[in-house]
Amino acid sequence: MTVQVGRRESFNAAHQLCDPDLSDDENRRLFGKCVNLHGHNYILEVVVAGEIDRASGYVLDLKQLSDVITTQVIRDVDHRNLNTDVPWLKGRIPTAENLAQAFWERLQPKLPAGLLRSVRVWETDKNWAEVGAQT
Ligand code: NI
Repeated sequence: MTVQVGRRESFNAAHQLCDPDLSDDENRRLFGKCVNLHGHNYILEVVVAGEIDRASGYVLDLKQLSDVITTQVIRDVDHRNLNTDVPWLKGRIPTAENLAQAFWERLQPKLPAGLLRSVRVWETDKNWAEVGAQT
């Protein structure tokens, strides 16, 4: 039987939504007030799924998951400007969608094969984006 377990971490970061290939007017039309530099208290939720290990009783030790999230993502993005300060986000407009995709790419190679199920980024209390294993 497959069991899902997850870990939630948080970070604070600044971003502005703008496409450098567009004019200021076009960016403002596309992204509204999000073209201005502003911050969010982000929540990152990572879910893994698999069989329970008979010896440990875990699907995955959540301390290990927490360590991977911290090392691969949080350490690089916390208290940073996501447009300019994070080399592996270069060239991506830092929407919640693109962050979820980039975080997946950072986490997936560092977790046991086939375990990662979903990566969800909460940008505000109301807005989130998720990348899943099925998509
Ligand atoms: Ni924003």
